[in-house]
Amino acid sequence: MNRSDRPIGVFDSGIGGLTVIHALRQSLPQEDLVYLGDTARLPYGSKSHRTIERYTLQMGELLQRVEPKLIVIACNTASAHGLPALQAVSPCPVIGVIEPGAEAAAEQNGPVGIIGTLATVGSAAYDTAIRRHDPDRVIYSVACPLLVPLAEEGWFDDPVTDTICRRYLNQLPFEVKTVVLGCTHYPTLMASLERSRPGTHWIDSGRVTAKAVDRLLQGHLGYRTTSARGTLKVQLTDASSRLKEVGSRFLEETLGDVEVVEI
Ligand code: DGL
Repeated sequence: MNRSDRPIGVFDSGIGGLTVIHALRQSLPQEDLVYLGDTARLPYGSKSHRTIERYTLQMGELLQRVEPKLIVIACNTASAHGLPALQAVSPCPVIGVIEPGAEAAAEQNGPVGIIGTLATVGSAAYDTAIRRHDPDRVIYSVACPLLVPLAEEGWFDDPVTDTICRRYLNQLPFEVKTVVLGCTHYPTLMASLERSRPGTHWIDSGRVTAKAVDRLLQGHLGYRTTSARGTLKVQLTDASSRLKEVGSRFLEETLGDVEVVEI
């Protein structure tokens, strides 16, 4: 098969990365996508660098079965801890979500807030990436470990979610007007986040990553050579009964058949 006609492989620690799939399907509807979610081992955000890096390498290896033309690490935590290791061994190019999110943040003026998992915030990966664009940028980071379970539970628009969002976001100084959603799950909590900090410019790292993928395809990787709508294949390392319902909310379309794969 022509390389440009191969699928794009996307992986995440769970189903949160379906928000990145949604962004990819909107901006590159003709591309075939294979999504791999490590639902058996979620969360990554509370684990150590060594473990997250190992999981990232294993997920990259699993995706090689579909011979992707590109791998997108949709998970911020895996991007923060496993991107260089996977890039070093992968036969195809690999991109993460941190660099596109950091680039978009650096384009804004003033201090930047980062919200993410404990492991993402602890890695300071966003800080490093933003400072590559603007060494003097003031950055504040807040780890928000309770937001992933709230999103996985489907509490997208709920007073409890509002209270927790407010508690986390109030840790950012008032002058912070740009906040990076440094976790795949957070775009689903937008209503609560917006109510907790109205008027903020939110950077959805998934959406800006879709633009980065577009640039790569436009370059040497190439677009799929047919204009028919691309397929979406979803593989998970474990499938619970509620997954279809919550997954469809993340994807913003009905989640079709899910294949369970052994890790
Ligand atoms: N998907 C992860 C991320 O984007 C968060 C979930 C987890 O902790 O595994 O950082």
